[in-house]
Amino acid sequence: MIKRIIKFKEVSSTQDTAKRFIHKQEEVAVSSLRQKRGRGRHGRTWISQPGGLYLSLLLFPRTRLTSIPLLASLTIIKVLEDYDFSKLSILWPNDVLLNNRKVCGIICEQYKNAIICGIGLNVNIENFPRNLSNATSLKIESGRDLDINGIVKQIIGRFNPLYNELQKQGLKIKEVLNYIVGIGKSIEIITSKGVIKGTVHDIDDDWALLLRDHIGMIRKFYYGDVRRLSW
Ligand code: BTN
Repeated sequence: MIKRIIKFKEVSSTQDTAKRFIHKQEEVAVSSLRQKRGRGRHGRTWISQPGGLYLSLLLFPRTRLTSIPLLASLTIIKVLEDYDFSKLSILWPNDVLLNNRKVCGIICEQYKNAIICGIGLNVNIENFPRNLSNATSLKIESGRDLDINGIVKQIIGRFNPLYNELQKQGLKIKEVLNYIVGIGKSIEIITSKGVIKGTVHDIDDDWALLLRDHIGMIRKFYYGDVRRLSW
């Protein structure tokens, strides 16, 4: 349970700042107004100018580690609903989409018994480089500026009870299923072992992705980066 938010104006990456608190074995959140070296998944850069929300949750989960990315996605969905956004969905397990465009990216990194869950939410960003044509922000979608610190607080407020429940008895799969996009659609899943193409079959009870591959075999993934193929 996160009881403390440590705020910075500028850091290299909130992921690295959070890492420095591991030795205290206390669950905390680290936020920053900008990052000099924000990182995304698979070694990508996460452009981190002011106007975005950059947050890392330092967690010491005792169980169900693999559900943390999806739990973070669900948290963001709940927060955005609190702010009256709709047309929200999750591209399993790490991307939150608004109007079918990416509004939030999540990266989870493990260091021994710690998980650092990094959340990048496009809040007041007005435009994106051309190569990020599928990105959007809360401002682009709503036409208004939102208070980033208020959203950070709300994220922690929404995350804590979900995380408690996950640690105690596990969360009901139904909660999250409503938001998952892509069942029946063609995707490729990029893992450390390679790229596998197939169609999304289902999400399992433990929130893993079930993929039907080209020979019809159902394969289970706990981690991976999903890329949509022509949809
Ligand atoms: C992705 O979609 O590739 C994940 C992006 C995660 C970005 C966040 S911003 C806060 C935290 N600090 C980082 O350097 N990265 C994560």
